[in-house]
Amino acid sequence: MITHFFQRFSVGCFSVRRRTLQRLGAWINASPRLSRWIDPGEQVATPDEQYRRFNGSYFGNFHEQEKMLADKQRMAFYLAAIARKIKPGVRVIDLGTGTGILAAFASRAGAAKIYAIDHSTILKHAKRLAAHNRIENVAFVATHSTAFQLEEKVDVILHEQMGDFLFDESMVVNVCDLRDRLLKPGGMILPSRFEFFCEPVKLHDGRHIPMIWELNIDGFDYSVLERSRPQQPEYYRMGGNDLGVVEHFLGEPKPALEFDLHTIAADGPATEITFSRRVERAGRMDGYAVFFRTKVDDDLVLGTGPLDADRAPHWAFRILRTEREACAEGDFIDVKIKVERWSDPDTWRWSQTKRSGGAR
Ligand SMILES: C[S@@+](CC[C@H](N)C(=O)[O-])C[C@H]1O[C@@H](n2cnc3c(N)ncnc32)[C@H](O)[C@@H]1O
Repeated sequence: MITHFFQRFSVGCFSVRRRTLQRLGAWINASPRLSRWIDPGEQVATPDEQYRRFNGSYFGNFHEQEKMLADKQRMAFYLAAIARKIKPGVRVIDLGTGTGILAAFASRAGAAKIYAIDHSTILKHAKRLAAHNRIENVAFVATHSTAFQLEEKVDVILHEQMGDFLFDESMVVNVCDLRDRLLKPGGMILPSRFEFFCEPVKLHDGRHIPMIWELNIDGFDYSVLERSRPQQPEYYRMGGNDLGVVEHFLGEPKPALEFDLHTIAADGPATEITFSRRVERAGRMDGYAVFFRTKVDDDLVLGTGPLDADRAPHWAFRILRTEREACAEGDFIDVKIKVERWSDPDTWRWSQTKRSGGAR
């Protein structure tokens, strides 16, 4: 009896101590400065390293791959682009091969050799899939693209590295790194031409969620909360594939940025952009819809615009929220977007001023 009591007592003490140590460890890890003070030798992961780890585990999940493979617009675009542009005998790098589907399309289009690289655990399944489907000229390499080496340069870099915010899967940095090291002069990047949109929008009244300090519900006024504006960047964004949210664009949509991966600087577009929109359809401005298009030929385009009937459905479009502002037809909205890194939407900041139709 007494032995049993002491056994239970010591097990209880042990588990309390273990839980306390776990909590202490988590608390220390959450504070990079404290961890470095306790263990100066410890390397704290940079935002890029943290993102790589996240990306590698995210795409190891079958469901993430399934969503992309089930996106008929995306698959039809790549199938047609590869059939048109990949010529027999070329050598190809497939950056981020996933399940190996684009490498398989390239092989069937007649590519002589494809280097299919991926840093996620999905790669082992890609190898099995290629063997099962008798695709023989693909070399699968488990690596992050920045560590990939080849003796001889290739003719084509094939990729699908576009995130919901276009830049947030590090497409520009990763493709440009391979372009500058491993693409032959005159070689091709597929796809290469991109349009990035950040369009002022009105959301449907029933779906629009105002900032909390804009609310006044039956005389109960929330304006005092403006002084407590949240500091977390994600508060100022909404995401989704829900096409019921966006009612209309206030102006005529035009790309806020256009670039070609063959020629863009390796560190990406300018970190500050400005543009103006004339209001063509009056309404309340609730934010900006962020989406992209990529064009291989005039008749071969892939887009994620929230109002495009043929949008590729697995990409979410994003809303950068603004405080509401009534806009009349003929008004101008002057927009400024400033970013630290395009690849990290947490560093994006946006603002606008409205000029009434007659004002200069
Ligand atoms: C959007 S998925 C595309 C998968 C496949 N190409 C397709 O079209 O179905 C991107 C893939 O790229 C991989 N990836 C992302 N960045 C990478 C990098 N820098 N080096 C190697 N693989 C990368 C991810 O693990 C993921 O499997």
